[in-house]
Amino acid sequence: MSTIESVLNETRVFPPKEEFARKANISSIQAYLTLCAEAELDYQGFWAKQAREQILWHKPFTQVLDDRTPPFYQWFADGVLNVSYNCLDRHLATQADKVAIIFESDDGEVIQSTYRDLHQRVCQLANALKSRNVKKGDRVIIYMPMRIEAVVAMQACARIGAIHSVVFGGFSAKSLHERIVDAGAIAVITADEQVRGGKHNPLKATVDEVMNMNDVASVKCVVVYRHTGADIPFNPTRDVWWHEITQNASTHCEPEWVNAEHPLFTLYTSGSTGKPKGVQHSSAGYLLGTKVSMQWIFDYKPADVFWCTADIGWITGHSYVTYGPLAMGATQVIFEGIPTYPNAGRFWEIIQKHKVTTFYTAPTAIRSLIKLGADLPAQYDLSSLRLLGSVGEPINPEAWMWFYEKVGQSRCPIVDTWWQTETGCHMIAPTPGAVALKPGSCTFPLPGIFAAIVDEAGCDVENGKGGFLVIKKPFPSQIRTLWGDPVRFKKTYFPENTGSGKYYLAGDSAYRDKDGYFWIMGRVDDVLNVSGHRLGTMEIESALVAHTLVAEAAVVGKPHEIKGEVVIAFVVLKGQFPHGEEVTEIIHTLREWVAKEIGPIAKPEEIRFGENLPKTRSGKIMRRLLRTLAKGEEITQDISTLENPAILEQLKHPSK
Ligand code: WT7
Repeated sequence: MSTIESVLNETRVFPPKEEFARKANISSIQAYLTLCAEAELDYQGFWAKQAREQILWHKPFTQVLDDRTPPFYQWFADGVLNVSYNCLDRHLATQADKVAIIFESDDGEVIQSTYRDLHQRVCQLANALKSRNVKKGDRVIIYMPMRIEAVVAMQACARIGAIHSVVFGGFSAKSLHERIVDAGAIAVITADEQVRGGKHNPLKATVDEVMNMNDVASVKCVVVYRHTGADIPFNPTRDVWWHEITQNASTHCEPEWVNAEHPLFTLYTSGSTGKPKGVQHSSAGYLLGTKVSMQWIFDYKPADVFWCTADIGWITGHSYVTYGPLAMGATQVIFEGIPTYPNAGRFWEIIQKHKVTTFYTAPTAIRSLIKLGADLPAQYDLSSLRLLGSVGEPINPEAWMWFYEKVGQSRCPIVDTWWQTETGCHMIAPTPGAVALKPGSCTFPLPGIFAAIVDEAGCDVENGKGGFLVIKKPFPSQIRTLWGDPVRFKKTYFPENTGSGKYYLAGDSAYRDKDGYFWIMGRVDDVLNVSGHRLGTMEIESALVAHTLVAEAAVVGKPHEIKGEVVIAFVVLKGQFPHGEEVTEIIHTLREWVAKEIGPIAKPEEIRFGENLPKTRSGKIMRRLLRTLAKGEEITQDISTLENPAILEQLKHPSK
């Protein structure tokens, strides 16, 4: 990739409205540039000042950045703190009765929890975990529905210094197993069932399935939150009921004071090859990132009602449900269900009912709501809204405009936030009182974030030219390592090219326009973005090949109107080439298989069979050709290195 030319040509510009800017935390472009200049001059001093102001330290730090063994950076390393203390206890003296969480269940029940209540619940669970011998540094898997208890579980781990690893409730037994084994978890926190869109998902049954697999002897305890009351098997030597172990537990729990670099959590995310990566985050640096971004990008105000629709199974749910809003002392909405149940007005109804001011969601949700009810927002009172946000993939200008006009009533700025599981918090996003918006651009980096576009040699490319998105200097919220795999960490994120091992390589391609605005173009590796979720092609291929019928498989992404991308699989079967009904049958079998192996989000939209796959003479699958075929386009690319050109004809059309 020498140059990537972009096809986007967006000319609309939306400067901050005076009314918004006047009250904003960063209220002018000068104010934004002043912060950037301060960071430019002395970025370590800049972050040290932020860390002193934003975090309550049990013991203040004296060191700022330790960069003696790059890329294993440490921030504020001799400082001592507790993240749960920073999210809960700090608010008790000033606003114990403020509502921390307005929870709305799938079927519309509303439960509120104040900071006092949340603190008590967290302390009780923390004490209960301690009594089950969960200690500082132990790994705890959280496999929970989106309910107050999910946040309580995460905060309770943080309180006792246990490292949580949340697994998305939609993941299969196989994926859960892989994560439990990799983490060496000693406890699992789950629920009898999860309920979304009226459908029940038997979480505990999945955990039981995993507990019957190999290599899970590390798990000594499964805590079960009773949600639906469904009849579930119970293993009395291993399983405990959440309500029973917390019932008589003390509502006081002294926080475990940990060093700034103590891992707060790991979260598994897809890479282009191999098994999912356990992204490890720190305590202080991560907390700092979530806090500054709440203020700079979400322009947080104490009167806000904040709503981030992400599940806690993803980084967005960590940073902007469990940690950022609570660290700020915010009131936030947590919703158990899905945007389209019982109808496509559900999001707008929730905004109206709870007077949401800040609404943060994903382009895929926006696109599906446009499709199912573009006029629905007009039927609700959305006047409480003052800021909108988008995350997960590039938002197409059409969706942006609809979101802006129909939901934000041309009054609310949209913050298009670019970041990743690995960065912990927003990296490139508009400070909404300062930066003029362009639909489809995530605009400019946060102060103290040195984002740039470089070529293969790590040299800056000029504006208008595409290249690799990198971050040139360390920043507090960045990934510390991959759990148990420092070699892969270094190789993946700090490769020797693109900045001689010094730059953080995001894996995205991007360009800056003539005004310096950043535009994200997509992944450079074989990672798909389906409905805002990162899926490694390798993982899906491995799942397919694990089926007895399959000899070989290649997976690519195909652009999709609503989901962003969908999975298209090209499969070579071991047996006879299938015909007629057999095709439908095998396709069905393989789709269900992938759902079971990874989770329903990874199900191929389409499966095509071939007697072989297009390969180079050295045997490498030519994915770029498959991508073209998946799109239904003619191949105009160079196929001179292709060993078996005839195969293209066979793979051209969906198998019937
Ligand atoms: C990848 C990270 C960040 C939380 C959700 C996803 C893509 C993310 C944007 C955006 C364009 C975006 C990138 C990135 N992405 N936000 N605003 N504009 N692309 O976290 O699963 O770690 O995925 O999502 O490709 O690398 P993730």
